[in-house]
Amino acid sequence: MTLDRLLLTGGTVVDGGGERRLDVRIADGVIVEIGVALDADPALERVLDAQGCIVGPGFVDLHTHLREPGMTEAETIATGSAAAALGGYTAVVAMPNTDPTQDCVEVVEFVRNRGREVGLCDVRPSGSITIGRAGVQLTPFSELAAVGVHLFTDDGSGVQDAGLMRRALEYAGELGLLLAQHCEVAAMTHGAVMHEGDCCSHLGLPGWPALAEELMVHRDIELCRLTGSPVHLLHLSTARSVELVRAAKADGLPVTAEATPHHISLTDEALRAFDARFKVNPPLRTMADVEAVRRGLLDGAIDAVATDHAPHPAHAKERPLDEAPPGMLGLETALGVTRKVLDTNWQKLFELLSTGPARIAGLADAHGRPVEVGEPANLVVIDPDVDWEVDPGGLASLSNNTPYIGMGLRSRVRHTIFHGRAVVIDREVNR
Ligand code: DOR
Repeated sequence: MTLDRLLLTGGTVVDGGGERRLDVRIADGVIVEIGVALDADPALERVLDAQGCIVGPGFVDLHTHLREPGMTEAETIATGSAAAALGGYTAVVAMPNTDPTQDCVEVVEFVRNRGREVGLCDVRPSGSITIGRAGVQLTPFSELAAVGVHLFTDDGSGVQDAGLMRRALEYAGELGLLLAQHCEVAAMTHGAVMHEGDCCSHLGLPGWPALAEELMVHRDIELCRLTGSPVHLLHLSTARSVELVRAAKADGLPVTAEATPHHISLTDEALRAFDARFKVNPPLRTMADVEAVRRGLLDGAIDAVATDHAPHPAHAKERPLDEAPPGMLGLETALGVTRKVLDTNWQKLFELLSTGPARIAGLADAHGRPVEVGEPANLVVIDPDVDWEVDPGGLASLSNNTPYIGMGLRSRVRHTIFHGRAVVIDREVNR
């Protein structure tokens, strides 16, 4: 990878240490100087204007579906990495529901190596918990750990068998790995299209009850208590799930959780027009749930915002609601949505989008770091006060199933620095 020499001028640096008006000089992948009004040397370095901008650690997504191998009509590692970089992400954890599944060294190494070739962000493949995500036989965790996999999940579905999940936690705990659960008791959600509630009854559609999530959240918290192994709960969507995690943390259990931008910004009412862009798993819930998930993010019950970026081709999303696949794009809009709906400061936003997820993903050696001399230069530069709307035709993602058309978003990524290289400059990918 070519490493640039860069100077970010005029920005306000935000990290765990607070907010400071500082220029940042980068060389050979590392922050080499920080100070007020540093002298630029345009012959030697590229000067990037960060006037009026927030400069902080690049975002880390715990939950990205890159679709490659196997579903490259929806997304590729190249297009997904571009979407990530434009969204301010310097690292993404690639979900395992590819075809073939990320359940063996060959597939995992393919994803990681392709991510390196593309070079726009750190692509970290997850491994599946069970072979083929079939919920029957455990994946060889130690073989995948030996090639650097830290997070294991069957995302797309939950591990239904409590005995198998217990063994998986014991095994992962011994190896120092993290299991992440998609909380859904499948026996309660067969054929479900949307949240089970008033709106769903009114539309006459089959419902996905909140309890189907909460039962598995409760089960896995108790398995965590039994085994002592950490568990991460993916895309929590209900008020009761947040309460259960809050109580588990108060008990000192090693439980972490994430919430998506869509579960803090949209409700089941969006399905009234039968538009499959709003179909997602877990489904959009009620306003009371939305508010509870927001509170959870603000008070620390939930540790991270994670996108669940789930591209699907237009023809699939144009099918009738009961046939269309669930999922929404997220990488390019996560910041704009989160900033719009979460009433908090920049330090907390970086905790939720960068530092927190970097810790959970086991990436805190290179991502979510303080903006200080000697630190790896994985950074995002944000226009904080820009109001904008998504142009679905202008997305870097290969798919366009964004639910945010027509919704005003706030704050936009101007530049992204990955490994010391400006991969996004003035909202354009710099290949
Ligand atoms: O809406 C979703 N889409 N939820 C999931 O858990 C999987 C994802 C996908 O892969 O499309």
